[in-house]
This record gives sequence, structure tokens and C-alpha cells, in this order.
Amino acid sequence: MTDMRTREFPRTIPGSGDLAAFLVTNKGTVDAALADAGALLFRGFDVPDPHAFDAAIEGYGEPGFTYEDSLSNAVRTNVTPRVFTANEAPPTTEIFLHHEMAQTPLYPSKLFFYCEIAPEKGGATPLCRSDWVLDRLALAAPDFVTRLEAEGVRYTNVMPGDDDAGSGQGRSWRSTLSATDKAGAEARLRELGYDWQWRDDGSLRATTPVLDAVRMLPDERRTFFNQLIAAFRGWADSRNDPNRAITFGSGIPITAGDMAPAIAIADDLTYDLQWQAGDVALVDNFLVMHGRRPFKGKRRVLASLIA
Ligand code: FE2
Repeated sequence: MTDMRTREFPRTIPGSGDLAAFLVTNKGTVDAALADAGALLFRGFDVPDPHAFDAAIEGYGEPGFTYEDSLSNAVRTNVTPRVFTANEAPPTTEIFLHHEMAQTPLYPSKLFFYCEIAPEKGGATPLCRSDWVLDRLALAAPDFVTRLEAEGVRYTNVMPGDDDAGSGQGRSWRSTLSATDKAGAEARLRELGYDWQWRDDGSLRATTPVLDAVRMLPDERRTFFNQLIAAFRGWADSRNDPNRAITFGSGIPITAGDMAPAIAIADDLTYDLQWQAGDVALVDNFLVMHGRRPFKGKRRVLASLIA
């Protein structure tokens, strides 16, 4: 663990010219660097617009994970078939560290980000190595880690009937569950193993099945693969109370006291990626958490998910 603060993270891959062609030619090297570093920043390449970004993703050559199929809570808009806005939540809203969609049974393995317009102020993408977090947390709070591993976790989220772009958790149940009516939503929830309650205002309170909170990677690194920090710090809106959002698998609430060491360690290990226009980042979703700092002025960072 002694080397964790001095290693290059994320690893920058400087270059020029066409990123799509670079990724076609160098996929093996890129994947080896990604497995080692967890996040790569391609800087200096010629990626002028979302179509060039889409082409770079195609050049990388792995199948996409579509937003329509996902159970993500974020409100997003497609820009090209494989590229969408990262999150439509207001600039003042911080998106806290998370593994993409780890609060659902369906999640992508990797994420691409692309900076089309660099933010004027703020707007960095915090990145945090989840294996490093778990190593330190196991020393600071061994009982908590043991319990997470033994029991897993469950997440509870209240989804509105219609998209609420004012919230980081504002995706409607209709969109989230690809359903046109309550019966269709219930069929999907049943299939996924969720518990649910309808509320008088047309919103839906849904609780996930027990999900893993710690993941073992093929090389036996263990990661804090979950959405606990984002749920605890960020799932506050007109419908959601963060203190009721997360429980152990047994249903016992995970408390502020439980979360404090995890949050402090993750904050300490976080690197803020300060975007420049044309940057592309590739993030291993099983190894690295990401988020979004608040910002002022224009900022356009787009995303794409790998299955
Ligand atoms: Fe995300």
C-alpha cells in the first residue's frame, strides 16, 4: 500500500491525431494500462466533437451498454447512438463518488468520458481507486468491511412518475423500468427481485435485492464496488432521505457512523480530473469510482458505457 499515493493516477496517454485509429492499433497496450492504473486520460488527440468521440469508442471495439437498458437513476439525453450527456443534474449539485450503476443488478464494465466544453470554474471529475479505499477501510473499520462482505447491501430509491431534471436521482420510474404503466413496472421489478411501494403522488419507492458491496476482481484485488457513498451523501431530494437509502443485506440501516471512515478515506484518495476540451478518459468501473464536482458556467462532458 505504500505506493498508492505516488503512482500515476489516472495515467495520461499523450498523443496527437485520430484517437479512433490509435485505439484500433493499440487496444492491447491500452487495456493493459487500464487494468494496472484503473483510469486513463487520452490528451492531445484530435477529438473535436461528439461524433469523433463516438468513432473513438467504435475504434476501441467493445459492445455498448445502453442507457435505455440500464436502471440508472440519472436523467440523461442521447447525443449519438453510443454517447449521452453524463448527468443533467444542475451545476450546483455535486455527484458523489460511485461505481456506475452499482446500486442495481445491471452495470457497465467501463466508462468513456469526453470533454466537449471545459468548465470555466469547478466541474472536475473526481476519480478514486476503490481497491485502495477497501485496503485502508479494512484497517480503519474491519467490522464494517466484514459485515459488508457477509451481508451485502440494499438500496432504496423513490422514483418520480415523470423525469425530474432538478435532481441527480430524477429519472422517472417509467423511463428507469422501460414501462408505460404500473403493471409493466411491477413486472420488471419482480423480474429483477426488487421490493416496492406505490405512493399517493404517483412516485414509486423501490428497494433492490441484496447486492454485493465488495467485488473480487479476476486478479484477486478486492474493491469497494458499491454506491454507498453517493447514496449516503447525495440521494437527497424532495422524495429521498439519504438516511433511509442504504441498509445492510439484513435490512439494518447503515449509519452515518458506519459511513464516516469510508467517506474520509475515499476523499483522501480522490484525484480531481481537471478537464481540457478534447480530453477523453477511460475508466474501469470495477476498480475506480467517479463523480462530478459542482461548476459554474458552461460545461459539457459526455459519456458512453461499455457492456
Ligand atoms: Fe456516474
